[in-house]
Amino acid sequence: MRHLLTGFEFTKEQYLELINLASQMKANPSAYMDCLKGKTGTIMFEKPSLRTRTTFEIALYKLGAHGVYLDLQGGDLGKRESIADYARNLSRWTDCLIGRVFSQKTLEELAATGSVSVINALSDLYHPAQAMADYMTVKEHLGKLEGVNLAYFGEGNNVTNSLFIAGATLGVNVTCFSPLGRGPDIQIFNQAKAIADKNGCKLEVKNAVEFDKSYDVVYTDTWVSMGDNTPLESVKALYMPYQINEQLVEKSGAKIVMHCLPAHRNFEITDEVMDGPKSVVFDEAENRLHIHMALLKTLLG
Ligand code: CP
Ligand code: NVA
Repeated sequence: MRHLLTGFEFTKEQYLELINLASQMKANPSAYMDCLKGKTGTIMFEKPSLRTRTTFEIALYKLGAHGVYLDLQGGDLGKRESIADYARNLSRWTDCLIGRVFSQKTLEELAATGSVSVINALSDLYHPAQAMADYMTVKEHLGKLEGVNLAYFGEGNNVTNSLFIAGATLGVNVTCFSPLGRGPDIQIFNQAKAIADKNGCKLEVKNAVEFDKSYDVVYTDTWVSMGDNTPLESVKALYMPYQINEQLVEKSGAKIVMHCLPAHRNFEITDEVMDGPKSVVFDEAENRLHIHMALLKTLLG
């Protein structure tokens, strides 16, 4: 039994195999329509979702499996009955638990107490399946991953952490530009950096936005993540220097622009860039489906 809790579980070869399988599934989905026939997955979300929920449910369907959605946005998980008892019940009926949770600890507890695969569909610390789809998208557009320079702008968050982990494993140079004190999780960064050092790529965190080299990819995410009640307007001045706009794209040398979505248009990214020729944001969104199909086949097949 295998889990995807953080993204650290996968080797470089496994990331590449997953991306290749996702590309094959994208090209020829009907060849895989029975590969999880009769299996089921439970999609249990404590937070809202458009892309992740829809694509996991459709991915299960396209592989011959069935997805059951449990809406936990009312705060049921761990309250109506313990997290461990959720895991023990669900493990009797279903083949995997796909969880979007406020706390990473919840996923770890589900994995420790249940007896089926647990897949992280976003937590406070990680968004591993997002990063997998993102690097698949980079490979499609740039033809390679090793040696690619990716710059992330904005709040260092779950998405940033996962871009660091998967990037370090795949040989991508990842730089995060964030205001002082708003960078990524330092422990996760150091853990990812140790992998990057072995793979000959570079991870960096910088405060001032300056371009001492050109970047192939520029990437951003919301300045305020789900679960944080800070009004977006109140951090606008702090984050505005990190906004992906036409000027920043021009200076960075970027070939493609990425955003995991949902976007707060004209906050972290301008309309011109998001709707412009370098934007691949909807390719990323599409690839969530293909990567989830590959992930489910890999973990449950
Ligand atoms: N990118 C992403 O995870 O989108 P959702 O929150 O809509 O699932
Ligand atoms: N960092 C964002 C990602 C949304 C897909 C959040 O956690 O809300």
